[in-house]
Amino acid sequence: KTFVKDIYKTDEKYLEKEIILEGWVRNIRALKNFGFIELNDGTFFKGIQIVYSDELSNFAEIEKLHLSSSLRVKGILKPTPQGKQPFEIQATDIEVEGLSSSDYPLQKKKHTMEYLRTIAHLRPRSNTFSAVFRVRSIASYAIHKFFQERDFVYVNPPIITSSDAEGAGEMFRVSTLDYKKPPLDNEGSIDYKEDFFGKETFLTVSGQLEAEAYALSFKNIYTFGPTFRAENSNTSRHAAEFWMMEPEIAFADLKDNMNLAEKMMKYVISYVMDEAKEEMEFFNKFIDKDLLSRLENIVNSEFERITYTEAVEILKKSNKKFNYPVEWGIDLQTEHERYITEEVFKKPVFVTDYPKDIKAFYMRENDDNKTVAAMDLLVPGVGEIIGGSQREERLELLEQKIIDNGMNPEDYWWYLELRKYGGTKHAGFGLGFERLIMYITGMTNIRDVIPFPRTVNWAEF
Ligand code: 4AD
Ligand code: MG
Repeated sequence: KTFVKDIYKTDEKYLEKEIILEGWVRNIRALKNFGFIELNDGTFFKGIQIVYSDELSNFAEIEKLHLSSSLRVKGILKPTPQGKQPFEIQATDIEVEGLSSSDYPLQKKKHTMEYLRTIAHLRPRSNTFSAVFRVRSIASYAIHKFFQERDFVYVNPPIITSSDAEGAGEMFRVSTLDYKKPPLDNEGSIDYKEDFFGKETFLTVSGQLEAEAYALSFKNIYTFGPTFRAENSNTSRHAAEFWMMEPEIAFADLKDNMNLAEKMMKYVISYVMDEAKEEMEFFNKFIDKDLLSRLENIVNSEFERITYTEAVEILKKSNKKFNYPVEWGIDLQTEHERYITEEVFKKPVFVTDYPKDIKAFYMRENDDNKTVAAMDLLVPGVGEIIGGSQREERLELLEQKIIDNGMNPEDYWWYLELRKYGGTKHAGFGLGFERLIMYITGMTNIRDVIPFPRTVNWAEF
């Protein structure tokens, strides 16, 4: 058996040879006593042209095939110097594995992204989505490769957890299957304490707290897995289930953290550009005309670094009318983030040292007592792609922060102990994997970069 990828990648090795291919009909053009099939076998972005004629015993069946029928084709690979592609296959035998019916919903015409979302089980057979999901796979491998080559240990934090890593209350509750609706307690609120074999548990919003525990043993670690947020934001950049990659580094500060993030971003982008050339050219042609030149630029230039206070000054000085007024202390909105990265700097920008009141409890307080050692990476087209910080390593300060945030230090006993037994300065960040894929492909909706999206209005699949 041969794969289409091998035919494209190995010069001439298969020419004039008999080969067997298995794949799906992407296109078919039936003429009088011969015809063409574009066969895609999934191993390569492009398909390969099959020429068939009425010498085939089942010619009548072949000419009536509908799109996406699956075939086993035997034939000779012939060079086609005048053709669009360098070669084609002259079929000597075509076996139909599975017929596709005439109402196949992915026809040759251009479909809208909205329509394609309603057929999430079939959309990977379209050009756009086969490109997106191969890029997603390659980017995921690049992330592992980057960290493994630098001796980071891959850690798998729990999905079911009892701690709110972000302290933002955006968690989905986990309950056992035979869960019975509990009675109302005195306050009139529902007591869910019996949810998970007697313990109240949730789906993780971030593996960071567990990642810190492992960084304080292995020094450099990373996590990469699904995370869940019950935030009710129906936007093109938020999903209720998304993948996050979180490195955590010990004996390191905010600057080390930014250097790591910048290196990793550049590595992953160049790796994908090298390993998914056909897909990236496709995006550049059909999704975003400046994509390749922009990514090239990013790999070769330095990311900008400004403080939150500087960002606020830039925003206040600009003539642009923002819907949300800018004052020191506000949480930057998407419109602000996009203005800074798209109109002012036109490249990725790290914004650091945010007001402590708008950031998570675990971030290290700066000497000004007003800001924390936080960093967000903003990129054109997407906005925030990375959120990170240096962590508060001082036990008393951390305990106080937990209390100030209305949380119970007892729930975080083990996290606090990390500061008691050989704590050290340490830092880390979280990369939203879907946002990275949006950035690399130019796709503009998070629903189109994850196979089966879970978002606020999600209903099917
Ligand atoms: O900024 P966030 O909330 O940071 C954390 O979770 C930290 N614990 C990370 C760390 O320091 N280890 O989330 C990190 C990134 C965001 O920058 C964004 O790219 C992505 O995760 N993200 C989402 N992506 C899709 N849908 C959502 N609802 C997301 N929420 C966050
Ligand atoms: Mg954030």
